[in-house]
Amino acid sequence: MVHFTAEEKATITGLWAKVNVEEAGGEALGRLLIVYPWTQRFFDSFGNLYSESAIMGNPKVKAHGRKVLNSFGDAIKHMDDLKGTFADLSELHCDKLHVDPENFRLLGNVLVVVLARRFGGEFTPELQASFQKVVTGVANALAHRYH
Ligand code: HEM
Repeated sequence: MVHFTAEEKATITGLWAKVNVEEAGGEALGRLLIVYPWTQRFFDSFGNLYSESAIMGNPKVKAHGRKVLNSFGDAIKHMDDLKGTFADLSELHCDKLHVDPENFRLLGNVLVVVLARRFGGEFTPELQASFQKVVTGVANALAHRYH
């Protein structure tokens, strides 16, 4: 299990309060679909994903990205119980959608890239390390049903 110190929790929560969930969520999901195109097959119902600009401008990508990022927000509120927090979503992604858990890691890493891009120098190596723990914890919790 991933463990967070009080200091890590404080820096993570502090940065997260400044994240524009709508924009960063759309960017993260859009980048996932572009950089790892096999992830597109889960999103047939999203319509036009034919080019980079179509993906980044697709309102369904934006809306779903926001949902996903709100879910990361929940993780940040419950860092000591990621497994419990993601129990239902693990069932959805593993038992119903059959998403390969490697993709959870990829999305987490894309989110780290998005934060680095948006916060620049403020996203110090230390903050990166803390966030990397969050995204790893979320990926493990989501994959829990496979274990
Ligand atoms: C790693 C972090 C991820 C989080 C926190 C997350 C979170 C969520 C949430 C909150 C929902 C909405 C559930 C609902 O409406 O009840 C959802 C749905 C879904 N997720 Fe994820 N997800 C993640 C990764 C992924 C990945 C990597 C894929 C596929 C490559 C994926 C595919 C889907 C699909 C297909 C749906 C249903 C979409 C729909 O038709 O509405 N998710 N996810």
